[in-house]
Amino acid sequence: MTTAPLNLLDLPARFRNPALDEPVSSSWPAPRAAAGRPSGELVDSFGRRIEDLRISITDRCNFRCTYCMPEEGLKWLTSDRVLTYPEIVRLARIAVDLGIREVRLTGGEPTLRPGLADLVGELSELPRLASLSLTTNGFLLTKLAGPLAAAGLTRINVSLDSLQHEKFHQITRRPALDKVLAGLEELENHPSISPIKINAVAMRHFSEDEVVAFAKLARRKPYVVRWIEFMPLDADGNWERDRVLTGGEIKEIIERQFMPLVPVPSQDPSSTSNRWRFADGLGEIGFINPVSEPFCGTCNRIRLTADGQIRTCLFSVEEYDLRAPMRAGATDHELADIFHNAVANKEKKHKINEGEQFQRASRSMSQIGG
Ligand code: 5AD
Ligand code: SF4
Repeated sequence: MTTAPLNLLDLPARFRNPALDEPVSSSWPAPRAAAGRPSGELVDSFGRRIEDLRISITDRCNFRCTYCMPEEGLKWLTSDRVLTYPEIVRLARIAVDLGIREVRLTGGEPTLRPGLADLVGELSELPRLASLSLTTNGFLLTKLAGPLAAAGLTRINVSLDSLQHEKFHQITRRPALDKVLAGLEELENHPSISPIKINAVAMRHFSEDEVVAFAKLARRKPYVVRWIEFMPLDADGNWERDRVLTGGEIKEIIERQFMPLVPVPSQDPSSTSNRWRFADGLGEIGFINPVSEPFCGTCNRIRLTADGQIRTCLFSVEEYDLRAPMRAGATDHELADIFHNAVANKEKKHKINEGEQFQRASRSMSQIGG
């Protein structure tokens, strides 16, 4: 498969590294050097090169979004089961040696974990990492945007599903819209974090009357708004196909109310979203359509849960444990073998659209890491 070239000139100096230009082997199993650092790129059995690692650093959250968590929360991991920051940094370093170029920190809500900026600072020092990003509900950004920018965060996704106070409260079960909007504003003071993306989950009978307000926000503010189709990853098991409002339907509403959308040129083929600009050039909207237009064929992602399990798909029913071997003294090479083995078994695609064939994921979104 093709992979979008990294635009090195766009990267902050600390991320540029001439080693990126060196040819790399794509053979698997990994050629094992007798000594030295692990090597051998992560290529799965369908030829997809894995370059994106999403690391969940906590399963806890201060929101209770109805499409994700029950009102009372979930049974949280005990602290001994959660990877420590040094453990996370070690695994990220090994993953980068194996060709991971993007690390996204997620949760639960990652900003709840104390010392997040310190973790970001350490990860941003990893040579050959091209992008270090965060997915957050935005509640704590008024306080954290500055420290995260200073520590080297380069991108951010803020989850925001409604611009109406009551509906925001209804969906997150928290009256926190103004706080999240203030967090987004604070991000604008830190241009090294760019772009600022807003992710909105699209649900039928909920999102239709949000579409225009979000489109106006995308035109008024330097925020890229992205609509994500509702997926069967809710802890309550309430997902139904009828509740998926598709990206195509949202695009129609926008075009009817505003003007045609034109595709953004040269998009990253492994990106989850397809990106559009308003025909007058003002504002960008993205659509992440995992249900109506699955993009598994170009998936370059794996996930590491807060308790140290590799998941090769959001909908995996199997995981690969790194924590126990690491705590039992595994070498970097042995941990790299676990990455390789997991990737070799990466699922071809999700089966949301295959009726009886579809098996719900073994965990909900907050326990996996979005
Ligand atoms: N379907 C689609 N997106 C979801 N998210 C959480 N649960 C779901 C779901 N069931 C999104 C959040 C956030 C990211 C972590 O995943 O809105 O943007
Ligand atoms: Fe928390 Fe994100 Fe789940 Fe909402 S979607 S409950 S913000 S983890």
